[in-house]
Amino acid sequence: MSAVLKSAPSFEPMRPEDIDAVMATEQRAYPFPWSRANFSDSLVSGYSAWCCRVGGALVGHAVMMLVLDEAHLLNITISPDWQRHGYGMLVMQHLFDVARSHGAKRMFLEARPSNAPGQGLYDKLGFETIGRRRGYYPADAGREDAVVMALTL
Ligand SMILES: CC(C)(COP(=O)(O)OP(=O)(O)OC[C@H]1O[C@@H](n2cnc3c(N)ncnc32)[C@H](O)[C@@H]1OP(=O)(O)O)[C@@H](O)C(=O)NCCC(=O)NCCS
Repeated sequence: MSAVLKSAPSFEPMRPEDIDAVMATEQRAYPFPWSRANFSDSLVSGYSAWCCRVGGALVGHAVMMLVLDEAHLLNITISPDWQRHGYGMLVMQHLFDVARSHGAKRMFLEARPSNAPGQGLYDKLGFETIGRRRGYYPADAGREDAVVMALTL
């Protein structure tokens, strides 16, 4: 199903004062959300962290670690109110541009095999599965594996 994009978003680096709003999105979007400390530590560490806005509304956020010629996607989240309108694709394209401009040649990520929206997004972008990490994520019943995916930028 192709979604219709409503409005062009803007991308701004995430600031400490954005974390309250980012946390509100995060907690609505995941059964096991990142903590406030995960975001503040990411900013302190200098990770590439972004807010995606449309007309002042926070549509989503993303965090990526850039190491030498590799980009590691750590978080991409679109608010449930804004999902299926193409913003996930636009956030990923923005991250690709940033990663390339820092010399990254490949992007890596981990995802839950049970996350159909995430898997659908990464498949559409051409990511390939390159491995599996056993028991990587907390889950309702114990732990869930992660699939490791990669894309040449
Ligand atoms: C995954 C996520 C970022 C996708 O964002 P989005 O803005 O809704 O995605 P888009 O509208 O850009 O969709 C792009 C493609 O992703 C796939 N996709 C998106 N939502 C999907 C769903 N619910 N089921 C299956 N595939 C889906 C489709 O291939 C879609 O292309 P199509 O519309 O042509 O079918 C969003 O669902 C989200 O934030 N989920 C909660 C957090 C999360 O799981 N993040 C990823 C962690 S690995």
